[in-house]
Amino acid sequence: EWAEALMEREVVLAAPRASCAGVVRAVDTVERLLREHGPPVYVRRQIVHNARVVADLERRGAIFVEELDEVPAGATVIFSAHGVSPAVREQAAERGLDAIDATCPLVAKVHAEARRFAGAGMDVILVGHEGHEEVDGTTGEAPDRIQVIASADEIETLRVEDPERVAYLTQTTLAVDETAGVVDALRDRFPALIGPSSDDICYATQNRQDGVRALASDCDRIVVVGSANSSNSRRLVEVAERAGCPALLVDEPSDLPPSFVAGARRVGITAGASAPERQVQDVVSALAGFGGVTVSERTVTTEDVQFKPPPRRSRRN
Ligand code: F3S
Repeated sequence: EWAEALMEREVVLAAPRASCAGVVRAVDTVERLLREHGPPVYVRRQIVHNARVVADLERRGAIFVEELDEVPAGATVIFSAHGVSPAVREQAAERGLDAIDATCPLVAKVHAEARRFAGAGMDVILVGHEGHEEVDGTTGEAPDRIQVIASADEIETLRVEDPERVAYLTQTTLAVDETAGVVDALRDRFPALIGPSSDDICYATQNRQDGVRALASDCDRIVVVGSANSSNSRRLVEVAERAGCPALLVDEPSDLPPSFVAGARRVGITAGASAPERQVQDVVSALAGFGGVTVSERTVTTEDVQFKPPPRRSRRN
């Protein structure tokens, strides 16, 4: 059994993997503020859904709060990459906070679509996970007009004003394959359904899912590096499993039980868009602790997306 556990194995890294442009921008924003202002810098909610990133920023003087009433009047507060509802922006303005908006521009795009459809008097169906911060923020653009569904089973329960005037939007981090099925089912019920001008599921989500699917075809096990509350990381586990490869979400190397990789000759590794690359390298090192590994990379596409830093003060929109 030792021989089995300690055998030579191949590690194949998915590319692209780990941090997306929206996450890099949000984390850079907190780091820049810490440098320029010195601590404390307040951040509403986890800046990105990654336990290590949050703990690291906390050590350096970032203070993460649930709600703005925990932020002293006049202080600087950063809104997380997942976006906020207009009510939160108003609250920041009322309390005289210096708000800096690190909402990913691709989430802000979904907000703009929500305002456009709702402003035209349409009912908006948002496909996503109730209670996720991104969904809460988007819904807040037009709470009376937006209904959230997670699966096709919930379509029956929808009540709309005019079935001819229904639009859909999606969370940015859903599984591409599953979402297509939900949208098809929505269109069956509302044939005049309209959608966003370009897909709401973002490039980073799409690319990481394509990457993990490529690994699933010939790996024995897949390890997805990411935190349990990271939506896109969880979707990577599901996509791998649907493609027939057992997959496990691990935040830290210590979360990886040797039994998961015992007997596996080829282990695929990817990471969610909120996980930093160094966390991937730590998991690769941990695997090397179970026996010799050769590491290669399988690239399905390359990414060159970068976003400008947020303006110094958030605009009210
Ligand atoms: Fe933005 Fe997509 Fe990353 S919405 S924060 S680029 S996962």
